[in-house]
Amino acid sequence: MASATKLLKEEHRSIRAALDFAERMTSRIARGEEVSPEAVARLMEFIHLFVEQCHHAKEERIFFPILERKGIGTWGGPLGMMLAEHERARDLIQEMKVAAEEYKPGVAKSGERWAHAAWDYSGLMQAHFGKEEEVLFRMADNVLTPEEQATIVADFERLEEDLGPGKHEQLRARMSELVSQWA
Ligand SMILES: [Fe+2]
Repeated sequence: MASATKLLKEEHRSIRAALDFAERMTSRIARGEEVSPEAVARLMEFIHLFVEQCHHAKEERIFFPILERKGIGTWGGPLGMMLAEHERARDLIQEMKVAAEEYKPGVAKSGERWAHAAWDYSGLMQAHFGKEEEVLFRMADNVLTPEEQATIVADFERLEEDLGPGKHEQLRARMSELVSQWA
């Protein structure tokens, strides 16, 4: 039986691949090369649905509240820091969204705003995942009973179903297809 922390780590792996892809896009823009607006749009869709509506929703609505009840601190503690980083990530996504609409291939510098925000977003998220995996998930594995891990996993599955049948796996597959297209 998969534990909640193991599932979250698996999602981190998929998201990290998307972040590496975002960084490759920003490097191309920085070199003055064009990227496809469609690839940018698909990356933004993955961030919106897979990262925000699924991964962060699982953490914020299900996983963090249980950890708080188990005595892991929110304000001034590790959960507070993780939540603050989720907020900062949302600000950067908003910036990327606005900037993605400004991007016009062939128009010099029109992609720079997106590239800056995407670079910052990727750096923030990579560091955030490191902290979760090294610190928070280890604390969680120490305080959660197997029954509590199983309850969380069941709640995660319900949240995924709310996204639409098969949507979670579809998003993951579409992202890896995009990454391999641009490899
Ligand atoms: Fe997180």
